[in-house]
Amino acid sequence: MAELGVNIDHVATVRQARRTYEPDPVWAATLAELGGADGITIHLREDRRHIQDRDFTLLRETVTVKLNLELACVAEILDLACHVKPDQATLVPEKREEVTTEGGLDIVSNRDVVARAVGQLRDAGIVVSLFLDPDASQVDVAAQIGAHAVELHTGQYALAKGEQREEELAKLVTAGNQITALGMTLHAGHGLNYQNVKPVAAIPAMHELNIGHSIVSRAVMVGMERAVREMKSLISS
Ligand code: PXP
Repeated sequence: MAELGVNIDHVATVRQARRTYEPDPVWAATLAELGGADGITIHLREDRRHIQDRDFTLLRETVTVKLNLELACVAEILDLACHVKPDQATLVPEKREEVTTEGGLDIVSNRDVVARAVGQLRDAGIVVSLFLDPDASQVDVAAQIGAHAVELHTGQYALAKGEQREEELAKLVTAGNQITALGMTLHAGHGLNYQNVKPVAAIPAMHELNIGHSIVSRAVMVGMERAVREMKSLISS
């Protein structure tokens, strides 16, 4: 059965909307663990739009399941990762203007930069995963530069409908087989939700799914009624 890594970035997004102390992603991580999360995933972006350095270091202290840090190949964040030592690092591309991570890393074109980052993280004892599109030439390079795992970008699958979705799923299955045949661990994520997750979770050898936006969105909805009731009771008592 695939493990679930819960990405809590958007808890921090709500906090940063007011630059205040709540909701605290550290608290959210504990609740996610109580709910059965096998891992907690955060993306410390160069622009610090949601997760802050303080979150990363505190989560390193408090998370008792796997802590997975998503990061770009940027010296400052790589150095911090090697100092704080998450259990796993997932290298992702990052553009300042993007709303979210838009595509996989291009390690065919950026082989040297990514290979150096993989080496630095490996030397620090961190498991390294690369976030890639389901593309055979990218997967080959991942194995050559020493990645432990590949996280397949499921964004195209999530956006596709009908027959096209089946085609996107087939690409994930093919790439998944290649990843495991090359001795790497298979992860997947991006755009997965309560409607589309099952076929991806059923891919043979799927080891880890990282899911954020849809879980945080659902948490807001299932928690709203109770939150309003509690405030109403304070006002009326
Ligand atoms: N995996 C990676 C590498 C990501 O960059 C993200 C988004 O931060 C996710 C998984 C989670 O995507 P979503 O929020 O769409 O579930």
